[in-house]
Amino acid sequence: MDDLRDKYIGLIADAADEAAIEDLRVQAVGKKGEVALKMRELGKMTPEERQIMGPKLNALKDEINSALSAKKAALADAALEERLRTEWLDVTLPGRGRRQGTIHPISQVTEEVTAIFADMGFAVAEGPQIETDWYNFDALNIPGHHPARAEMDTFYTHRAEGDNRPPHVLRTHTSPVQIRSMEKQGAPIRIICPGRVYRADYDQTHTPMFHQIEGLAIDKDISMANLKWVLEEFFTAFFGTEVKTRFRSSHFPFVEPGAEVDIQCKWENGSVKVGEGDDWLEVLGSGMVHPHVLKAGGIDPDEYQGFAFGIGIDRLAMLKYGIPDLRAFFDSDLRWLRHYGFASLDQPTLHGGLVR
Ligand code: PHE
Repeated sequence: MDDLRDKYIGLIADAADEAAIEDLRVQAVGKKGEVALKMRELGKMTPEERQIMGPKLNALKDEINSALSAKKAALADAALEERLRTEWLDVTLPGRGRRQGTIHPISQVTEEVTAIFADMGFAVAEGPQIETDWYNFDALNIPGHHPARAEMDTFYTHRAEGDNRPPHVLRTHTSPVQIRSMEKQGAPIRIICPGRVYRADYDQTHTPMFHQIEGLAIDKDISMANLKWVLEEFFTAFFGTEVKTRFRSSHFPFVEPGAEVDIQCKWENGSVKVGEGDDWLEVLGSGMVHPHVLKAGGIDPDEYQGFAFGIGIDRLAMLKYGIPDLRAFFDSDLRWLRHYGFASLDQPTLHGGLVR
């Protein structure tokens, strides 16, 4: 019995892992293990022998069992120690710096313009960038044969052969939202619509995708004087200085009369300053909404009239923040974005100041 004891206590001490422990358990104290075999021999013994050997065997069994569980616990502790050692990490190391993104000048200027018009009671409206040619042209008093349709360098959608539906277009201006707003809410209306527009054109001041803000105000007594006041208020708030405007008579099929609006500026070593000097820079088209357009939108031109305008957002951003080339706006060059971008918490409010 002492041999048995020494053998197993030695083997258990040397066991390398849990599987080895389990093997030893089966061999020593399992149902057919060595201790069980010895137990069976008790039957052949005299009662006196049995009285001595029985408890001894039981004690041996207990001793082996507790050696097994002690070793098992020791192995688990060692495994945990090893994990703690290899998975150690220094929580006092400084974090990795992460660069913050910036607000694109177009987004920034859109927010600024929206804030100014919101203060004058204009709500924001939206429309799809892929339009039917009815909304983009016909409803705006630009019929099929009209030269303006060609002049706009329109992108048309492809139609499969045999598909006779009129094509959709990438909207060439935000003016179709005038019609959609009239249809949706009827008169009176006071909305602006910022959004993307598309024309096949590419040079320093033109990109095939650019941004406009449409304005539309319709009521019973709205006049050109209201248009002039609203735009002058807008420019002064946007540029943070009194800006003189010049209204030049001009033609757009969807307004009558129509005017292009220039703002006062000065050229100084290749860059432009707004609100000084005696040069002029064209920034928008405008006019009194044509009766045909009101009718197309379901509004009675004998009862209502109003003004509309369309401003180029990209042009405004270039002017206000001195950005020379429009094409760079859409190159996604990180150096450009970091240089001209705005801090994300630097959002414009009329009270906090729109001008940086
Ligand atoms: N839609 C015109 C353009 O894109 C601008 C405009 C809008 C003119 C509203 C008059 C009235 O050039």
